[in-house]
Amino acid sequence: MDTPEALLDVAVEAAQAAGEVAMRWRARLRELTVEQKTGPGDLVSEADRDAEQSARAVLSKHRPDDAVVGEEGEATDGDSGVQWYVDPIDGTTNYLYGRDDWCVSVAAWRDGAALAAVVLEPVTDRLTTATAGGGAWCDGVRLQVRRPLSLDLAVVELGLGRRDRRARAGQVMGALVPRVRDVRRGGSAAIALSNVALGRADAVWSPGLQTWDMAAGVLLVTEAGGVVGDLDRTVDGMPSSGEVLAGDAELVEALRPLLQQALS
Ligand code: IPD
Ligand code: CA
Repeated sequence: MDTPEALLDVAVEAAQAAGEVAMRWRARLRELTVEQKTGPGDLVSEADRDAEQSARAVLSKHRPDDAVVGEEGEATDGDSGVQWYVDPIDGTTNYLYGRDDWCVSVAAWRDGAALAAVVLEPVTDRLTTATAGGGAWCDGVRLQVRRPLSLDLAVVELGLGRRDRRARAGQVMGALVPRVRDVRRGGSAAIALSNVALGRADAVWSPGLQTWDMAAGVLLVTEAGGVVGDLDRTVDGMPSSGEVLAGDAELVEALRPLLQQALS
């Protein structure tokens, strides 16, 4: 069955399978062979690849006719119309440094719309989920994005993006830090979006994302009552620019001109 609820069950099982593999490797971190992909800030190891394989094994067991895009493997086609996005370890640098703030991100989409989404943080066992029309949830609690009364009461999660965008990250910090309550720089775009849904942050600005980084997080935010867009507009689905600005609608409208000016 292609109901969002049925797809969520599969997404949770796939995320847990990947999380278990990643946790097993985490106990032997120093044995991992770490490779750079596009640069020193873009890393991969056997842990990412093995975790993705185990998530894909769950997907092909339950959903053999679906298409799958994962960060570390070849995309596979399917004819069911359901498209999965898997990030086996989002926040790979955090993971490889033995930190806690990394996650598994799994989402099912169809026709450009998200149906089910999971962000699992295995170290803390925080499981944040959403289904289309069914809300966003964590630990049995329905989630609602924060609505800060003004910009200066907002905590904004920042992503820096890949190397070619880093030079401009300082301009964003310079524009935001004097105007908001505070900024946070976590290192996992999927967790940043999940944090907005959880009320652990008010908004997120994260440029340079790939589909697997944001596919789950955008549904978490919108099902928690927030909006997702980019520097130009709010969108349904994932911003094709890969630049994500998300949070409470009014807050996003207040942040957008600041970011536009900083990046112009
Ligand atoms: C990265 C993280 C980071 C974002 C990068 C992503 P990875 O994913 O989500 O927050 O800024 O653009 O590539 O490499 O840790 O899976
Ligand atoms: Ca990622």
